[in-house]
Amino acid sequence: MNDQLSDQIIASKKKLRNKSKDYVLNFKKIEEFIKKEIAEIEILKNSSKSIIPEISYGELDLVDSKTIENIHKRGCLIIRDVFEDNKIVKINKELEEYIEGNGYYEDQKKKVGLDKYFSDLKSGKPQIYGLYWSKAQIEIRHSEEMAKVKKWLNNLWVYENDEYKVFDPNRELSYADRVRRREPGDDTLGLSPHCDAGSVERWIDSSYQKIYKNIFSDNFKKYDPFDAKYRDKTKEFESPAVAHVFRTFQGWTALTEQGPNDGTLQLIPITKGMAYILTRALLDDVPKNELCGSKLGKALSVNKDYHELLLKGLVSIPKMNPGDTIWWHPDIVHAVEDKHLGKNYSNVVYVGATPYCKKNLDYTLKQSKKFLEGKSPPDFAPEDYEINYKGRVKLENLSSIAKKQLVLEDSN
Ligand SMILES: [Fe+2]
Repeated sequence: MNDQLSDQIIASKKKLRNKSKDYVLNFKKIEEFIKKEIAEIEILKNSSKSIIPEISYGELDLVDSKTIENIHKRGCLIIRDVFEDNKIVKINKELEEYIEGNGYYEDQKKKVGLDKYFSDLKSGKPQIYGLYWSKAQIEIRHSEEMAKVKKWLNNLWVYENDEYKVFDPNRELSYADRVRRREPGDDTLGLSPHCDAGSVERWIDSSYQKIYKNIFSDNFKKYDPFDAKYRDKTKEFESPAVAHVFRTFQGWTALTEQGPNDGTLQLIPITKGMAYILTRALLDDVPKNELCGSKLGKALSVNKDYHELLLKGLVSIPKMNPGDTIWWHPDIVHAVEDKHLGKNYSNVVYVGATPYCKKNLDYTLKQSKKFLEGKSPPDFAPEDYEINYKGRVKLENLSSIAKKQLVLEDSN
């Protein structure tokens, strides 16, 4: 760690501790809250009841307030049947052809090591493909269905405040992300628990300090994880695979059937869990220039050394069918199971919700330049596999909705 960062961490911790009358007591209160949440999750787990809220695409307009409340509490949800099974089976096949027909595996061997983001997470590099512009991905990412879902998700946030309008929930930009394809039997490619959208930044960045002000200043109860104020103003450390957008939700669409033990996603469904991670780092047993294992330019690590209590809340998501989608708030801790014990490929296409705001617009404009060149988007390692790939989507193949979301056509 460089001296400058070390000094910054020491200074930030001092500043954040001083926001509280008693930072140890403040942590203990948050810990009590988390204990209750964990107990609730364990009861549900033991009685095989669903923990992650579920709704269906066809009933998006009919979701009741109790379910919305639960989504706010859990910070994650499943939206079932966003796409027809048949359509997804076809898309999955197309994606496979795109990968194999273009010789992705041979290309990948030549480019190992370019993606450093996950290199410190215990399980090593996951089976994530650096592909962004296949027809399969574009069809999902820029579909009418996805636009409707993302609008709905954006509206779960408080997007306006007394100072400014943070984003337009009804106008989507796009964030091109990758694909996960996991072979049956794979036991080497999990991802240990982490959060994206900033690691060290969550303590040292001045906008993050404002977002989490209530947590540090003994007002945990008043902290609203769905208040978007300043979420668009955070500044990330420059590093490949660190997201430079504000996502109201991260998410993916299942291309194949997958359930617990199929090497799928795990979540800690406690939106306010971030308060525990943040205040834990201020305790005196953490070395003064450290933040419980978080490192700049890496995913925020949630680990046994410091976060044992919180990790008890880690649950595998229930069985997903082709065309189902899962979504999680940017503060939600997530992981990918170490082992895939199932019989079939477990495949997903990542698509997050990035509503219209300056931060997302700035990124989208840079991203669109890469799209036109067929290169990896700015947030990702410049592997640029697809430049000469057959079947890569070009400007002339885009629908009007895709062009708007990529700001290649005026959306007004
Ligand atoms: Fe992640």
